[in-house]
Amino acid sequence: MSPATLSQSTDDVAHSDALVIFGFSGDLASKKIFPALYAMVKKGVLSVPVIGVASSPWGSDEWHRHVRASVEHDAAIDDEAAFDRLLSLIDYVAGDYADESTFDALKKALGTAERPAHYLAIPPSLFATVIRGLGATGLADNARVIVEKPFGRDLASARELNAMALSVFPEDAIFRIDHYLGKDAIMNILYFRFANSFLEPIWNRNHVASVQVTLAEEFGVGERGGFYESAGCLRDVVENHLFQILALLAMEPPAFQDFAAVHSAKASVLRAMQPLAADALVRGQYDGYRQEANVAPDSDIETFCAARLFIDSWRWGGVPWYLRAGKRLPTTAVEVRVQLHAPPQKLFDDSGREAGNANYLRFKLQPGSAIALAARIKQPGKAFLGELRELYLHEDEGQEDESHVETTYERLLGDAMAGDGALFTSQDAVEAAWAVVEPVLNDHDPALPYAPGSWGPAAADALIAGDGAWHNPQPEEQP
Ligand code: BG6
Repeated sequence: MSPATLSQSTDDVAHSDALVIFGFSGDLASKKIFPALYAMVKKGVLSVPVIGVASSPWGSDEWHRHVRASVEHDAAIDDEAAFDRLLSLIDYVAGDYADESTFDALKKALGTAERPAHYLAIPPSLFATVIRGLGATGLADNARVIVEKPFGRDLASARELNAMALSVFPEDAIFRIDHYLGKDAIMNILYFRFANSFLEPIWNRNHVASVQVTLAEEFGVGERGGFYESAGCLRDVVENHLFQILALLAMEPPAFQDFAAVHSAKASVLRAMQPLAADALVRGQYDGYRQEANVAPDSDIETFCAARLFIDSWRWGGVPWYLRAGKRLPTTAVEVRVQLHAPPQKLFDDSGREAGNANYLRFKLQPGSAIALAARIKQPGKAFLGELRELYLHEDEGQEDESHVETTYERLLGDAMAGDGALFTSQDAVEAAWAVVEPVLNDHDPALPYAPGSWGPAAADALIAGDGAWHNPQPEEQP
């Protein structure tokens, strides 16, 4: 584990000498990949050929326009020379993924490249077709494959996909993206936990009463109704993004200084989780969801879910972990709250076991990044009464916009091409995560309606009531 980057050492690993983007004309490439590639060219960290593959029968004018519009998706192009350099790296192959001639054309376009990285920015239903096509035409040799989530849609399909991918690529050549792992604030959980010693003595069931993780989004499904109908909130963000956050919070210290130890400690947490029980899950659907484009008029897909989970480990036995995510909530934020036990003795009127009075740690993961420790202090005056105040341990706002910082996709693409698997998910972690949610994927209560702009159905409050209440991320909580 390199101290500077927290990444696997790649000194003796060959860098990919070409990047292939399947799904070149798609939404993901447009919104995330091209802006990242442009930023990488600007910084001088991308200079290998980029081959786009998609079915659109585009000539060069058309794909040039597409790349320009994509790069301009978030911000105007501020370095035309860099943009021209990016265009000069790109070549485009039009074809059907099910057709072998597409892969032959790709092979030709790759020319002398010997170690390409194949990025699958395509619907999951096409993963197998493309991976098989790469294998059959020899394009998987010495190559890497980068796969977007969702990796499967249940345990069986994830296992099948893993087995198929592993029949073509070795595990260390498969880079499964969970883009939350490319976020600096989330990697700071790992750093903060294990670069400090004051936390470890209290980081267990003796001191932690409960943990909450909230991923709130103010917006709805927008144009992604069709995708959402096949996914739902639990598959879309809980079993992957929130489970990754939970694993970083709950994992044992990595046993040695290598990211393999981090992967294995995280996978152990996921394996130790109890399967999610139907009565520990609340599903909600915002009013108006059924009127969104490509959504069934009688859809039961959840746009909100709240779950109570347990980790059967020495460290966490009996501690409830509450995870909550949803769209059309009052704000867009990701936050963790680790609630500590109140003092055992009630010396002061306001310092006992009452909910809301005890110490907690708060990790604000988005927007910006902050870690706060809440402690009670006495108010001035004769009375022994105090208030809970937060000590800010770290704060960083809007880091993704700063030009010297890598965005999530720059980092993940760069790492995958360098052969650094630190920030990617492993086969066993993916399968362990599916195993946790497997019992409730089909067997669950109907989604309960909630008003857009609310914190989801009231049943979510009832779910946590035995352990207090949800703490809703506040947009501007601190000075
Ligand atoms: C994606 C989900 O994986 O993560 C989206 O498909 C969700 O539905 C998104 O909005 C959240 O990511 P971020 O980085 O915007 O918090």
